[in-house]
Amino acid sequence: MFDEIEACVFDAYGTLFDVHSAAARIRDELGESADSLSAIWRERQLRYTWLRSLMGQHESFWQITGDALDYAMRLLDMEDPALRARLMELYLRLDAYPDARDALARLKAAGRKTAILSNGDMSMLIAAAKNADVYPMFDRILSVESAGMYKPHPSVYLLAVDHLKVPPERIAFLSSNGWDVHGAGAFGFATVWINRSGEPPERLPAPPRAEIGTLAGLPEILGL
Ligand code: LAC
Repeated sequence: MFDEIEACVFDAYGTLFDVHSAAARIRDELGESADSLSAIWRERQLRYTWLRSLMGQHESFWQITGDALDYAMRLLDMEDPALRARLMELYLRLDAYPDARDALARLKAAGRKTAILSNGDMSMLIAAAKNADVYPMFDRILSVESAGMYKPHPSVYLLAVDHLKVPPERIAFLSSNGWDVHGAGAFGFATVWINRSGEPPERLPAPPRAEIGTLAGLPEILGL
């Protein structure tokens, strides 16, 4: 099913980088609401990307990430400018999942092209990749910025085809975000759902071509 794959394109947040590692690093200061804050922050961040795309009101992912954090802090009665600033700064230094680096090294050794395709602003993605020590493992880092639209709009996935010069059916797209996998599959990529938290399948068109629990399973799927 993945015989003809020339390039692997990765989602960033949740797939390569653990979005909950920011709040986890200052868990003591955030107290018992740390996990709720992180979950609401992430949920609102994604919701705002979808809503803004539908409204035709694009804004940078950095701004949206801050707006979502403000919402979460207000909801939980945790408003605190110093904590907000620290969490935003930590978002530029998220942990990479331990399986990500190994999988990327195997792909590079096998001569596959690798890229990130993410909602993140280019400056956010470069910072995260450099701080997590995975920057040199990518041939390209692609941000939706140039499309002026967020995932799962097809114009975003087209960026990978245009920049990598590889047809969609020869691109494996990897994401832990189920909705992103369906969006990429509907566009025409060969999709793999990295179902890190064991979620049930989404009820959306274009189901994943394969599903694995972590990126450690990727080389086998690709026959490497
Ligand atoms: C991204 C979001 C979907 O990195 O996590 O594009």
